[in-house]
Amino acid sequence: MSSKFPDHFLWGGAVAANQVEGAYQTDGKGLSTSDLQPQGIFGAITPRVDGDSGIKDVAIDFYHRYPQDIALFAEMGFKCLRISIAWTRIFPQGDEEAPNEAGLAFYDRLFDEMARYGIQPLVTLSHYEMPYGLVKQYGGWGNRKTIGFFEHYARTVFERYKHKVQHWLTFNEINMSLHAPFTGVGLAEDSSKSEIYQAIHHQLVASARAVKACHEIVPGGKIGNMLLGGILYPLSCKPEDVLETQRQNRDWLFFGDVQARGGYPAYMRRYFRENGIQVEITAEDQQALRETIDFISFSYYMSGCVTTDEAQNNTARTNILNMVPNPHLASSEWGWQIDPVGLRYLLNVLYDRYQKPLFIVENGLGAKDRVEADGSINDDYRINYLNDHLVQVAEAIDDGVEVMGYTSWGPIDLVSASKAEMSKRYGFIYVDRDDAGNGSLERRRKKSFYWYRDVIQSNGNSLKNKA
Ligand code: BG6
Repeated sequence: MSSKFPDHFLWGGAVAANQVEGAYQTDGKGLSTSDLQPQGIFGAITPRVDGDSGIKDVAIDFYHRYPQDIALFAEMGFKCLRISIAWTRIFPQGDEEAPNEAGLAFYDRLFDEMARYGIQPLVTLSHYEMPYGLVKQYGGWGNRKTIGFFEHYARTVFERYKHKVQHWLTFNEINMSLHAPFTGVGLAEDSSKSEIYQAIHHQLVASARAVKACHEIVPGGKIGNMLLGGILYPLSCKPEDVLETQRQNRDWLFFGDVQARGGYPAYMRRYFRENGIQVEITAEDQQALRETIDFISFSYYMSGCVTTDEAQNNTARTNILNMVPNPHLASSEWGWQIDPVGLRYLLNVLYDRYQKPLFIVENGLGAKDRVEADGSINDDYRINYLNDHLVQVAEAIDDGVEVMGYTSWGPIDLVSASKAEMSKRYGFIYVDRDDAGNGSLERRRKKSFYWYRDVIQSNGNSLKNKA
């Protein structure tokens, strides 16, 4: 097919600090909420005691091996790499006045290494972790004071990296707090809806303040939000199912509405009232929220369905996002339904709604890989998944949607977020490490490595439209 991707399309990959860096106590880093969840973002919260260890403590040792990994990304022709800064490397407890210089220096080295190859950073300020000190001392995002601590952190890194980083994101999958409150906002899992929405409100205000700070500090800088793009379809055309689908899509679109439009959407008033949800929103907060993002970023792995039929809903309760399975789609080994057309649909939905540039900052297939006797890894299933999704991105671009770039999730194998597994692999680059933490950490190119290199080199021309 002929390329529909714009000339300066940002092709690349995305990782998160707590899933790749390891070195969880090195150079003055403090404990983050992620360090207390060795079983993943839905797992138990485990106080760390000496001798404890978790797979994320070393992860894939990106903290020490990044020069080799960046060289491999460069070999694939990456234009962009999405990383996150571990807030606890910069402010170990979260409430310090002065930042930790060793932590700041690490990201300087990382950005300099990327710059050597012309790879642009896309930086998430908070990807599924915050200083545990803020949870212990202040109650996490439940406390208004956390807004100020976050703003101080954001301003510190904007000042430090303003000549190295142009593209920023505030909170990873900000809508996930509804499903994983400890991970998202540092609250106990059994918190009330009012407590969760209050914490979310504080986070939304903090996000807007970071947007303002970025605009003030970073010359020409652009900053976006980050949504889990969990698009839902009605399971049937029954009007009640369609209406319920709209309601459930608004559960996550709400976050984009506040961040892109600068205030609470009208439908939330009724939702709060009917569910007895009390949220303190001051006039000053409303003013702060008016500072809107420059672009929308999102992750996309799967779609799901909605029904008002109770019996069918019960099948969905086992799934964290309460998505009812779509009878027309196949699933990954982890039960995530594969829907490339859904990505085109989602891109159009978001562009119609916000008319802002879109950035796909996560997409990919978590799968078990097999290393053959000759050392090769023939991950055709991953190539197929990515090819089919990118074909739909091209279609959306042809529909008129402005897409800035595409960073596939986990271009190098990393620790999975939901269950902290190594065996759920997304990479073009294989990392020799198993779920128990055994392995040499050696890196190895998979078949998809060469495939993605060709996609980037041809600016999408090598993709195969199988329709
Ligand atoms: C997104 C997160 O939810 O999905 C990533 O932003 C995560 O951190 C990714 O890794 C895939 O999920 P998992 O559980 O397969 O790692």
